[in-house]
Amino acid sequence: MVSQDSKIIIVGAGVFGLSTALWLSRAGYKNITVFDRCPLDTKNYNPSDGCDGASADINKIFRTAYGTEKEYQNLAIEARELWLSWNREISESSPSALPPGLTPDDKVLDLCGNFFLAEGQELQKFHKDSLSLMEKLEPECRKLQFVKGDREDEERLRQLHPNWVETFHAIDGINNNNTNGFLDIQGGVTLADKACTYARFLCEKAGVRFVLGHPQGQLQELIVANEGSGNKVTGIQTCDGKSHHGDIVIVACGGWTASVIPEAARTVETTAGTLMFIDVPKERKDIWEMFDSKHFPAWSYRRGEGDEYYQGGGFPITKEGRLKFGFRGRKFTNFQDHPTAPNLRVSTPRTKYTPDPIKTIPLYGLQLVKEVIGKAFPELAEFGFTDFRLCWYTDSIDNDFVIDYVPGYSDTLFICSGGSGHGFKFLPILGKHVKNQLERIPDQFTDLWKWRVVEDGKICNGLEQGEDGPRELSKTQMAEPRDFKFLQPKAPALQSQL
Ligand SMILES: Cc1cc2nc3c(=O)[nH]c(=O)nc-3n(C[C@H](O)[C@H](O)[C@H](O)COP(=O)(O)OP(=O)(O)OC[C@H]3O[C@@H](n4cnc5c(N)ncnc54)[C@H](O)[C@@H]3O)c2cc1C
Ligand SMILES: *[C@@H]1O[C@H](CO)[C@@H](O)[C@H](O)[C@H]1NC(C)=O
Repeated sequence: MVSQDSKIIIVGAGVFGLSTALWLSRAGYKNITVFDRCPLDTKNYNPSDGCDGASADINKIFRTAYGTEKEYQNLAIEARELWLSWNREISESSPSALPPGLTPDDKVLDLCGNFFLAEGQELQKFHKDSLSLMEKLEPECRKLQFVKGDREDEERLRQLHPNWVETFHAIDGINNNNTNGFLDIQGGVTLADKACTYARFLCEKAGVRFVLGHPQGQLQELIVANEGSGNKVTGIQTCDGKSHHGDIVIVACGGWTASVIPEAARTVETTAGTLMFIDVPKERKDIWEMFDSKHFPAWSYRRGEGDEYYQGGGFPITKEGRLKFGFRGRKFTNFQDHPTAPNLRVSTPRTKYTPDPIKTIPLYGLQLVKEVIGKAFPELAEFGFTDFRLCWYTDSIDNDFVIDYVPGYSDTLFICSGGSGHGFKFLPILGKHVKNQLERIPDQFTDLWKWRVVEDGKICNGLEQGEDGPRELSKTQMAEPRDFKFLQPKAPALQSQL
């Protein structure tokens, strides 16, 4: 049984590892060491400089709207208070009391609003469900949600602040304004790299040790002892050849989780989302102003079904002048030999910083995003995309997280993963419930987050497709440098007329 004196190893210092370490250490756990392969201490989760987990990013959506999923809606509302208290703590700190990468004028949550958009005029089910669940459980919060095209809602926004009316219309250009949806001003964006930097700093203050960077911070393999009754994990071996003993090993390796725990290959699968960036030149104050979060929301847009399905979104401009656009209408797998288990193939992240680096993205999402934002924001066309990345999700079979003991190891191996594209917003709160699962104290998440695997013959969020599925990266056409430009070279029309 785990106790405050247990020696706990956490592998992975993304959102899941950090939040776990924070809640355990603050609850009196004295012996926690977190390992990560990325140089997160010197690079502060910078996704352009060697940090490539899903959590190492410039921004992520913070939303409280959750369809019919009341547990996550409640958790997001609870997280929001903690995010705002982090904002306050940071703003009230002296510069020298903050970790490198943070200054008192940084926020980790910017409440610029979330705009949920879909094609056409009729509210789609997810949006209707979100509004009615909020009405039912949190009527005061429902008043902070505003339906597109609703005159009274627009008037309510105007009374709150005229900037909200600008936000309400900032994305009218998408699909020639043939869209429906709602703006939720309880939400906005988290500044992801800064938030992780702050969370790691709080962990260190609470006594958590970190071993970061390659080779010392990178797990090579779990140390498994065979005992009469079954297997036990007794620690980890890192890539510098050292062994580290642990009573419990918590694997929070995001997209790499199944590469560490072979049994998880049928529990979680890593898939690539496509991200594109535009660095707006300093002198283009007009564009900086247009995408300023004081009147521009984080937005997502959904169009079509089946193969035509589009799901993507965008963010306000960052302090550094960067615009981010994401596409998740199709996510890609990358099957490789499992590093420790023979005859097992698992989807594995491939980034700019992995041993077999990738320097492009699939053409598919790039073209669709170019089409949508080229029409919605024609003023961006002249810049083209100036950067891009693949960002690796960890999908569970049902998009619920997977936070439980792995069966067969006598409670020595614990999985903390399955973020499924929506875990970031819970950074300040997640560990509270991870601690419950670890201590086997049942709560509202115990059943949702329990260990589970693909069920044969069932559709399991794509995990059932395997290597032969249609989303395998090696079968996908990749973008060439010219594809990142918006303006097509002028066709030689005149010549042909001569
Ligand atoms: C494109 C994209 C967009 C998203 N957008 C949102 C959003 O808008 N809002 C939201 O709430 N959520 C969003 N998410 C989800 C969110 O980012 C994730 O749920 C969350 O960041 C996952 O955190 P994690 O700790 O599980 O994984 P990660 O952040 O990937 O962290 C895993 C860590 O494990 C380390 N690691 C892996 N293998 C080893 C090893 N062998 N040894 C040592 N360390 C290792 C890695 O280096 C990494 O730092 C998005 C995800 C993606 C991919
Ligand atoms: C877009 O449509 C909404 C109604 O849905 C309307 O209020 C708004 O004025 C329209 N915007 C433009 C630019 O036409």
